[in-house]
Amino acid sequence: MEYKNLILEIKDGIAILKINRPKALNALNTETVLEIMEAAEFLENNNEVAVVVVTGEGDKAFVAGADILEMKPMNAIEGMEFSKKGHDALLKIENMKKPVIAAVNGFALGGGFEVALACDFIYASEKAKLGFPETTLGIIPGFGGTQRTAKIVGLAKAKELILTGKTITAQEAYEMGLVNKVVPHEELMKEVMAVAEKIKANGPVAVRLAKECVNKSLSLDMDTGLSFEAKSFGICFSTKDQKEGMTAFTEKRKPTYTGE
Ligand code: CAA
Repeated sequence: MEYKNLILEIKDGIAILKINRPKALNALNTETVLEIMEAAEFLENNNEVAVVVVTGEGDKAFVAGADILEMKPMNAIEGMEFSKKGHDALLKIENMKKPVIAAVNGFALGGGFEVALACDFIYASEKAKLGFPETTLGIIPGFGGTQRTAKIVGLAKAKELILTGKTITAQEAYEMGLVNKVVPHEELMKEVMAVAEKIKANGPVAVRLAKECVNKSLSLDMDTGLSFEAKSFGICFSTKDQKEGMTAFTEKRKPTYTGE
């Protein structure tokens, strides 16, 4: 697939999706948001892809937010529509039936932080800076930041981040549970690829169902969530992967999964 503002590379079952507007620190204009949505749909339906990695082109930024030049003249309706496009694109990432890892290689601000938070988890370069500068611009986070952040860090920490608009280091984000691992800048992609490979080696149906169950835990009450888990657990037993995984265990060998 060819994109104007994205670079997509697929190799050995792992897709690397790079946001590619380095002159604007990979800021998200509408065109880029729509391309992210298109790419997420393509990756969702591409059976060769087991794991997706999202990162930013260049050495400086993951994504420095939504495009301020494009937003500056917007009216209320245009602002709402832009926000909804962002929501749709990021929901495609959050609900993708395969894991999506954010490799945060630099600034992840505003909409950029929101892209990372829609991924399943974040690995960050020690150089990365994260935050929600929206209130410093007279707006609020509009690509899910007001909804996803508190679910990770709690209400008070989310409010401090969003109301101050302050930028935090990768280490601070790690300490708050926003980032799973902080790694030396040059090691970022190596570390991310290693964790992607580890997930890729597991049963694809199980990985998909596990992601769906954990995502559901945020919105379902305990009884409904456990019922959803039990049914998903049951589905695993209809797969060749479950037979293979347990047979491989008893035969003391590594399993070979087909995703069936
Ligand atoms: N939108 C548009 N252009 C941007 C941008 C953005 N979000 N962030 C950076 N750029 C552009 C700059 O305008 C600059 O372009 P020119 O060379 O043409 O002037 C270029 O990228 C390089 O940026 P800087 O010269 O500013 O680089 P720096 O190293 O001095 O600063 C920075 C880096 C601290 C990230 C700074 O660029 C910055 O503060 N960017 C804006 C961050 C921001 O406020 N993001 C939130 C946007 S609102 C949002 O995202 C809403 C939402 O929730 C959907």
